[in-house]
Amino acid sequence: MEIIIEATKEMAADKIVEKIVSLVNIKKYPVISLPSGKTPLIVYQKMAEAYKRGEVDFSETLVLALDEFLGIPHDHPCSTFSYFQENLINQTNIDPRNIYLIDGRPTNLKSECRRVEEQIRDLGGIDIQILGIGRDGHIGFNEPGSSLTSRTRVKPLAQSTRDNLVSLFGAPEKVPPFCITLGIGTIMEADQVALLAFGNEKATAIKRCVEGPICSAFPASILQMHPEAELYIDEEAASLLEQRDFYKWAHESKSTIEEYMAKAPL
Ligand code: GLP
Repeated sequence: MEIIIEATKEMAADKIVEKIVSLVNIKKYPVISLPSGKTPLIVYQKMAEAYKRGEVDFSETLVLALDEFLGIPHDHPCSTFSYFQENLINQTNIDPRNIYLIDGRPTNLKSECRRVEEQIRDLGGIDIQILGIGRDGHIGFNEPGSSLTSRTRVKPLAQSTRDNLVSLFGAPEKVPPFCITLGIGTIMEADQVALLAFGNEKATAIKRCVEGPICSAFPASILQMHPEAELYIDEEAASLLEQRDFYKWAHESKSTIEEYMAKAPL
């Protein structure tokens, strides 16, 4: 697990955007699975800025939705599609035909979950999975207690998650109680996983994710098992990490290893 700690969320967002842009510039039809929520908004804004500066062409980028609320249609203002439309499709040249959604109103729930899994397989797997983190440790909508090997399926939302969504939906009774989310096993099969967290309100979650035990009671802790997991966090979100200084040094010193080897006094 690589912990990338930047002074501000803007700087952390710049770093992950650099990574996304270089993947998109190198790979034909890169498959990127993206979350909704407040945290990644600054990243999408910076992706749009990079596009407008002519640094990247997203026309062949394939975007997957990480999750979707159950019971709402694609054109609902709170759907993942509306979120992608507002923050990505309208701001970049991502082709709407290259957006792979989860249907929140399928005729058959199990078939829809199976279809999503098959789609990921047909696309050749996820190149990079971007994640936020819930304060209760959820990734996607895999709430505490989720099987660490789970596949895409229907899940109930925890009360704390529903409380956080009241401002989006406008009233507690309008918040859907269920969703479809990529499973933890599905997420863990992505070639690379990058989790974003900013601000003091995510500090406890980041501490448990990085330095806590791996357990289904805190789903994000499973990222400790991913060989290519990176965390892009700001100083506030990093503030409770016991090994914070080491993580910073380890990341910053990586670029000096070649130079060190060239000069190493053996
Ligand atoms: C939502 C999403 C997650 C997101 C998380 C954190 O419930 N399903 O993908 O990462 O909550 O949200 P926020 O970034 O708004 O704090």
